[in-house]
Amino acid sequence: MLRENAMKKIKLAVLVSGRGSNLQAIIDNIEKGALSADIAVVISDQADAYALERARKHKVPAVHIDARKYETRGAYDTALVEELRKRRVDLVCLAGFMRIITPVLVKAYSNRILNIHPALLPAFPGLHVQKASLEHGVKFSGCTVHFVDEGMDTGPIIIQAVVPVLDNDTEDSLSERILKQEHKIYSRAIQLFAEGRLTVKGRRVFIAGAADKKDEFLINP
Ligand code: GRF
Repeated sequence: MLRENAMKKIKLAVLVSGRGSNLQAIIDNIEKGALSADIAVVISDQADAYALERARKHKVPAVHIDARKYETRGAYDTALVEELRKRRVDLVCLAGFMRIITPVLVKAYSNRILNIHPALLPAFPGLHVQKASLEHGVKFSGCTVHFVDEGMDTGPIIIQAVVPVLDNDTEDSLSERILKQEHKIYSRAIQLFAEGRLTVKGRRVFIAGAADKKDEFLINP
């Protein structure tokens, strides 16, 4: 019985606005059998997002929900929730989804929405993150997967990976180094969720079984 539960696949929705390299990493990990999940739907606010193409290539349902058809952010999120419920989604993964989401979505999927951010939160939330990191002169940067709450990049942190910032880094070179780690940790966090190993207490996320497994504490998992 336990084994059956452990192997049950969760249904994901991946919300995207652009190129979708994180989506691709999730698809690849599912196809390799490294992730106990299926993607029920990929949703984009941009009709021409390359991420939608990636989904279609892998026979994953790809849906464009056009923001221009909705008068408010709340109305847009109501449409999103409708689509997610219709597809019986267990976990919503924001992967370069360039919209501010509202309490309508956050409440409907409380502690069931993840986001990936290209910095070590709470440092450098928001946009133009690598530029801000370079300008500030930090020696390390990285990425964070966190649960989504009603703030901007503020929810409880699940997993982070660290990369060095090098003297000759540009926004592009730093982004690329961080992106490689994003592709690893997003799937890792989704798998931990799928295995039912994440507990949120206040701002902290506890990973069941991590205390006696040192590898869970390594940076760059
Ligand atoms: C990533 O850097 C992610 O951290 C941020 O948006 C970017 C999306 O990239 N939230 P991609 O579309 O997954 O390639």
